[in-house]
Amino acid sequence: MDVISVIRTKRDRGELSPEQIDWVIDAYTRGVVADEQMSALAMAILLNGMNRTEIARWTAAMIASGERMNFDALSRPTADKHSTGGVGDKITLPLAPLVAACGAAVPQLSGRGLGHTGGTLDKLESIPGWRALLSNDEMMHVLDTTGAVICAAGDGLAPADKKLYALRDVTGTVEAIPLIASSIMSKKIAEGTGSLVLDVKVGTGAFMKNIEDARELARTMVGLGTDSGVKTVALLTDMSTPLGLTAGNALEVRESVEVLAGGGPADVVELTIALAKEMLDAAGIKDADPAKALADGSAMDHWRRMIAAQGGDPDATLPVAREQHVVTAPESGVLTRLDAYGVGVGAWRLGAGRARKEDPVQAGAGIELHAKPGDTVTAGQPLMTLHTDTPEKFDYALAALDGTFDIAAAGTSFTATPIVLD
Ligand code: URA
Repeated sequence: MDVISVIRTKRDRGELSPEQIDWVIDAYTRGVVADEQMSALAMAILLNGMNRTEIARWTAAMIASGERMNFDALSRPTADKHSTGGVGDKITLPLAPLVAACGAAVPQLSGRGLGHTGGTLDKLESIPGWRALLSNDEMMHVLDTTGAVICAAGDGLAPADKKLYALRDVTGTVEAIPLIASSIMSKKIAEGTGSLVLDVKVGTGAFMKNIEDARELARTMVGLGTDSGVKTVALLTDMSTPLGLTAGNALEVRESVEVLAGGGPADVVELTIALAKEMLDAAGIKDADPAKALADGSAMDHWRRMIAAQGGDPDATLPVAREQHVVTAPESGVLTRLDAYGVGVGAWRLGAGRARKEDPVQAGAGIELHAKPGDTVTAGQPLMTLHTDTPEKFDYALAALDGTFDIAAAGTSFTATPIVLD
């Protein structure tokens, strides 16, 4: 087999054979196929697509590039959730302990933020002492004893995807539905969860800007999971506005703890409960009441145990950025739009995110929102507070926030976009 013929097949809109797919994924993982050759193939896939058979084989080849985990020894059914990424998307933090409190085991392998979307591991690392890197044995122990674990995927899990994702990130080939679907599902299937709920985000702050693309991505991933014996369902959810009132690592942990304490912003609570219900249903757990588990403190108990089991201090004071800058409403009226992408880029520029994989993030950096679409605002009132340790970045962040919101005349009617679109 030679890589040029594989690239030419896809360049000329042909169908890759199972042998070509198995060979190219294995050869790339072993370093026999070079980065420039794989990036040419990734671009040909982005431009010409892959059919369902090719995507299934591509996913299976990425799974076969590494180890597979197995949770059969656990006494409880497993349920995992994956979000395709957004701004202020801290839902995994309250969701994992909540679903554990309702009787499922939640093995949540999570990622770090890249670009304008935040990463669950970066958020949790703002809790003093908390560790994202666990051995497989440690992961099993935390899961077994606390009901939930949130950690980084080990190097042995779908190594082909790790290499390919890093390459796609620097070659403009992330936004290809076959590549996104196989990337996400290879990790989730290799992880060994029995059921999976996909939160496919739609809107300016998401990979998928329109509902048709999001639906196609969701259907592709549900098909891959189902065919591999993982009970898989997907929700399409809104990411045109940031979730909740915070975007940034420690800020989002604080808000998640508010949700676990029975409070928190309505949209975060609504989506957390909606996803919890889907996860419990997929795991075959009937008669659990996630809203009650938030209200009666049992989800909070599971959170505290999970954080402590990973070395974190659930009572520690969270880091606060050294400098703040308040953005005020330029006029009075009704806030009718607050753009997720602009807020995400603003938080990223303040230091909450990274431009390259190896960059550090600031735990306290980010944006706190004081109003959401539909709220009435008065000229001069705070709309957002920007937080950073590096105040020289305020102007850069403010440039990203320019044009991110609209204020209409008082009394203008406003119809909120539902959180769960489908
Ligand atoms: N998340 C992943 O894990 N892979 C992608 O390709 C995109 C988002």
